Amino acid sequence: MQISEAMKARQSCRVFKDQAVAQETLENLLSLTCRAPSAINLQPWQFTVVRDEEVPRLGKKLTRAYAERGISCGPDNTQPLPEIYLERQKELNRVMGPAMEQAGVDRNFINTGSLTFYGAPAVVVATLDGAFPPERSLDLGFALGWLLLAAAELGLDTCPVGLVCSYGDIIKDFLNIDPNRRVVLTVAVGYADPDSPLNQVRTPRAPLDEVVRWY
Ligand SMILES: Cc1cc2nc3c(=O)[nH]c(=O)nc-3n(C[C@H](O)[C@H](O)[C@H](O)COP(=O)(O)O)c2cc1C
Repeated sequence: MQISEAMKARQSCRVFKDQAVAQETLENLLSLTCRAPSAINLQPWQFTVVRDEEVPRLGKKLTRAYAERGISCGPDNTQPLPEIYLERQKELNRVMGPAMEQAGVDRNFINTGSLTFYGAPAVVVATLDGAFPPERSLDLGFALGWLLLAAAELGLDTCPVGLVCSYGDIIKDFLNIDPNRRVVLTVAVGYADPDSPLNQVRTPRAPLDEVVRWY
């Protein structure tokens, strides 16, 4: 698969089939991920791969924490968002809404689904060494972009799940991750259920003239 094909074809999967990912495939995926560039080649990332029945076990803990703390999906903005972003959020809701209705899930599905990684058979938890400032999450961003594209080539489907990072303490405790590390993002990995309306959603992108400036 051409890289440009993977860039165009990949999309977030929100209903996974009950089909395990072979260990060899996961190893291949992670070694491609780690080919990503990083500042001074420090590779400040660590990836913890949660597999099989450990995924729903972690999901249960996160669901319980969510019931107690109630922190849900949000962009973590530090100021009120300018109109343009609110409009893009509305646009996402416009394309997701009918699929959610067709699938018979309620409005809380993104929260509850994220907490349980949408039934994925594997989850990659990406953490940044606590020696670095949060800005170095940029290096992990590169690696995770690599992961999403490599997954597409390997025939895997993915969903980046950031919601659960609000529960980093629970994740680190469950997975015995160094408390000094920061959970930057998790990615659900597996095989999409092709029949689910939720997996038919194609999200739009802003036109180039909204996001590119030429001089
Ligand atoms: C940093 C980051 C965090 C995300 N967190 C979540 C999440 O918690 N739950 C979820 O369902 N999708 C999450 N997503 C997926 C986005 O909603 C999705 O990428 C976006 O709507 C574009 O759709 P596409 O991935 O299908 O192209 C996240 C994506 C990114 C990049």
